[in-house]
Amino acid sequence: MDGAKDRLARGYTRTSALYDDLVGPGYLAAIRRLLPFVRVGPLPAILDVGCGTGINLFEAARWFAPAGLLVGIDISPGMVAVATAKARQLGIPARILLGDAERLPFPDDTFDLVICNSVFHWFQDRPGAMREMARVLKPGGCLALIAATAPGFREWFLLMDAVVRATLGPDRAAPIPELPTPEELAALMQGAGLTIAGMQNLIQRHLVTNPLTFVQLMSVMAPTWSGDLSDREVAALQAAAARLMAAGWPGGFPVTWSALEAIAVKAPRSHPGA
Ligand SMILES: C[S@@+](CC[C@H](N)C(=O)[O-])C[C@H]1O[C@@H](n2cnc3c(N)ncnc32)[C@H](O)[C@@H]1O
Repeated sequence: MDGAKDRLARGYTRTSALYDDLVGPGYLAAIRRLLPFVRVGPLPAILDVGCGTGINLFEAARWFAPAGLLVGIDISPGMVAVATAKARQLGIPARILLGDAERLPFPDDTFDLVICNSVFHWFQDRPGAMREMARVLKPGGCLALIAATAPGFREWFLLMDAVVRATLGPDRAAPIPELPTPEELAALMQGAGLTIAGMQNLIQRHLVTNPLTFVQLMSVMAPTWSGDLSDREVAALQAAAARLMAAGWPGGFPVTWSALEAIAVKAPRSHPGA
């Protein structure tokens, strides 16, 4: 695994135990908005790409029960461990695999539904990752994509970048993820041979009035910068970021939240003579 992916995997492993409590409800709400628009037949085979703690996979398992096949894949060992333990606890017969979603270890035409919630911006080869998800869909299968979009969290990324550089030196700063635009995502889906059945981009602007809570939340949602750091360094950076937010924006730190929610369908197999 290359350095950036390794750091990302370690960052999410660090926060995997806190993930559901701190950020789970937001991700669950998003997949619950999309699932009613998904059309699949009985006993669907379902893949959750970048499954994290399994929130989407387990919700889909309930929604489409009984499912024919339930698979999650994630690059972070900590996330895989949490999702595996939850599947066992919930009695859901899901296979949770450790692996890179940019090279999916499945044959073509395997799944009726592929879910990808809040993972896409981490991919290095975005057209390739979209082609991989389309490749493993069966003809007529459905992609449920939820993806952070520009200019989401830009204020936070810039603040954190400044804090990391000031505290640890310029070489230690994590790269700021370049979030795709909704138009770019739509073009990628179409370029991978998918037809968009519906999509909406939701934008909200918040004023953060409790900086420390927000800093902890963001450290769980986007912990890439923390992958190489000790717990003590992470705590020091979180405290520094919260202090800067409180001092620089006494009326509340403005944050933009922006995400695309889309359903796209792979063309059904054409029948000879049809
Ligand atoms: C913000 S979390 C979202 C988790 C889950 N989809 C959800 O909705 O709760 C991003 C997840 O993507 C995973 N991830 C990032 N890049 C990945 C890749 N190339 N392959 C597999 N998983 C990846 C991370 O390990 C992390 O679990």
